[in-house]
Amino acid sequence: MSRVSLTQYLVEQQREHGHIPGELRLLIEVVARTCKRIAISVNKGALGDVLGSAGTANVQGEVQKKLDVIANELLLEANEWGGNLAAMASEEMDTIHLVPNRYPQGEYLLLYDPLDGSSNIDVNVSIGTIFSVLKKRGNQQGVSEADFLQPGNTQVAAGYCVYGPQTMLVLTVGDGVAMFTLDREMGSWSLTAENVRIPEDTKEFAINMSNMRHWAPPVRRYIDECLAGSTGVRKKDFNMRWVASMVADVHRILTRGGIFMYPWDQREPDKPGKLRLMYEANPMAFLVEQAGGAATNGRQRILDLQPGKLHERVSVILGSKNEVERVTGYHAQG
Ligand code: AHG
Ligand code: MN
Ligand code: MN
Repeated sequence: MSRVSLTQYLVEQQREHGHIPGELRLLIEVVARTCKRIAISVNKGALGDVLGSAGTANVQGEVQKKLDVIANELLLEANEWGGNLAAMASEEMDTIHLVPNRYPQGEYLLLYDPLDGSSNIDVNVSIGTIFSVLKKRGNQQGVSEADFLQPGNTQVAAGYCVYGPQTMLVLTVGDGVAMFTLDREMGSWSLTAENVRIPEDTKEFAINMSNMRHWAPPVRRYIDECLAGSTGVRKKDFNMRWVASMVADVHRILTRGGIFMYPWDQREPDKPGKLRLMYEANPMAFLVEQAGGAATNGRQRILDLQPGKLHERVSVILGSKNEVERVTGYHAQG
């Protein structure tokens, strides 16, 4: 059976639907190719000496794993010379990375979480890479951090690669969500799902329950009602899943529905949440909305949030529409 490749899919998006210019197509292909290289490192594990800590910390004070650093470097190297980018920003870099002068400059901005789910690397559980593409506004010379501070609703593409039992690339260019599976023998991405839809209702939630005593009342109420199951107000039993890799949890939700939450909690009241707006929440919110789901911070649509700084954090509630609306409604009630 002949399958549609990533290149074919993108060329079709470009040619027939007019969604993406050629430069954006090439940029996505470079990111996808880099994910194949990251997958090779991930798969080697101890054989490639890629497990364990790098002995350094990132700008957010988190200890970097060797693979955080390796994946970040691979994405930087692969993307800086193509001529389609103006600059890059990464969860693992303090400041933005400008395209060196020796290369032509493009108009796109690439943001990424090079390795998501770092705590799962050494225990051989699914991890991933998340990316988001913005377009530089205005035609002034040079690029600064301010160019990146655009709300998620301006993203022109977003996606992730999940390194699990299968290596898959999940992508949106604003025309629905498509999934590609890495064919290792061929070394290519094959389209394996198109027009992905998240069911509006679900009986499955994902949250780190160990933080329960720190949650705000609306989140507590929602989860209490799920736990009460068929004997409570929801009158149905719920199931719980928590991989602790956002990529894997979102992948499950895109595949069979569910709700994912990493909410604000009172341990550090001034910290809006754990997850990063620009590298995690925005790209995932774009994908989830494109698949018919919803994504909020409890009060506002994630994609409408105006970022104040590059490494900003945010509270995240996303997935099956009716459940996300329910939790968001509980926040409105105080
Ligand atoms: P990262 O590895 O990029 O720092 O992201 C980890 C995130 C996310 O993937 C996951 O949903 C969450 O942290 C897990 O947090 P807990 O360890 O608190 O469960
Ligand atoms: Mn992450
Ligand atoms: Mn990460």
